[in-house]
Amino acid sequence: DKAGHRHYMAKEIHEQPEVIAHTLAHYLDPDARTVRLNEPRLAKALAEAMRLTISACGTAYYAGLVGKYWFEQLARLPVEIDVASELRYRQPVYPENGVALYISQSGETADTLAALRDAKAHGQVTIAIVNVPESTIAREADIALPTFAGPEIGVASTKAFTCQLSALAPLAIAAARARGHMDLATENKLCSALLGAPRHIVEFLKQESRIEHLGGEVAKARDVLYLGRGVNYPLALEGALKLKEISYIHAEGYAAGEMKHGPIALIDEKVPVIVIAPHDALYEKTVSNMQEVMARGGKVILISDKAGIAAAGAQVWQTVEVPEADPFISPLLYAVPVQTLAYYAAVAKGTDVDQPRNLAKSVTVE
Ligand code: M6R
Repeated sequence: DKAGHRHYMAKEIHEQPEVIAHTLAHYLDPDARTVRLNEPRLAKALAEAMRLTISACGTAYYAGLVGKYWFEQLARLPVEIDVASELRYRQPVYPENGVALYISQSGETADTLAALRDAKAHGQVTIAIVNVPESTIAREADIALPTFAGPEIGVASTKAFTCQLSALAPLAIAAARARGHMDLATENKLCSALLGAPRHIVEFLKQESRIEHLGGEVAKARDVLYLGRGVNYPLALEGALKLKEISYIHAEGYAAGEMKHGPIALIDEKVPVIVIAPHDALYEKTVSNMQEVMARGGKVILISDKAGIAAAGAQVWQTVEVPEADPFISPLLYAVPVQTLAYYAAVAKGTDVDQPRNLAKSVTVE
């Protein structure tokens, strides 16, 4: 049942405010504005961890990459991260007192499961963030942390991703507290920001007709680049993955600072460049990369907030405005414009959005 939407993907994009709220409700106390971990072992493991190893595949891997920024910045917990198909075969060096975290919507992804088993065999405490509670990964992990996205039918992951972020953020705050790097006032501020995310997404989705129009523009391109920096760099990767898997347009995500080390050679007026740049501490840096693109004739679609759009100048080709919020939650908010843009590009191209060619919802072979 698509609840009146044309595709499951559209339905699942629109479900995000609700399922994010459900997931946050599990991990946050809304009155105290603190994180509650229902697992006593977890705080201890995170407090004592020498390092956190994170692994997953596809979109879940990009959620993990956002997690890396959060765990390192907030909890000063060193993070090692790799896609599961690499991690499991490269004989990673697991530390003593190591914690390993696996992220999976289905809980059945073969490489992620194999990476988890490898870490377990090497004495790591294993945690899994999983959407299907009775799945193999949820059962085999020492500690399973649920997401509450509900069934995700569209092959392109949307609500599972933002729910993974909604579990990762509280976990990073908990790790920060357990490791003595967070005072109560900061925890309250970050929890308030998280609890505000669903409302901001509802607000953003009111401009869908504009995104539909822009999706039609993106659909004309053969190649698209996505740029982001810091915690929003994984969003550039996720945006590119979403676009290629459902619209079949070639897309690449890059760290904005890497442009001048190669990819800028691709820029001409035929390659739209989607820049993800909230008006945060890294904004100026990303905007200077964006200006390098525009100086070479590149057509920029800037996804930012009111202040960021105002400061960007008139040369920008198109803008997408995301509600202003604490920079901590920007990965949650900026996921939605990249999903909707890819969705409408695919709709404009007339592809099979929910069942893209060559792809399966759950990859249970290696
Ligand atoms: O079920 P999982 O989260 O383990 O799946 C991981 C990837 O296969 C999945 O995220 C895939 O990349 C999606 N099609 C992305 O939209």
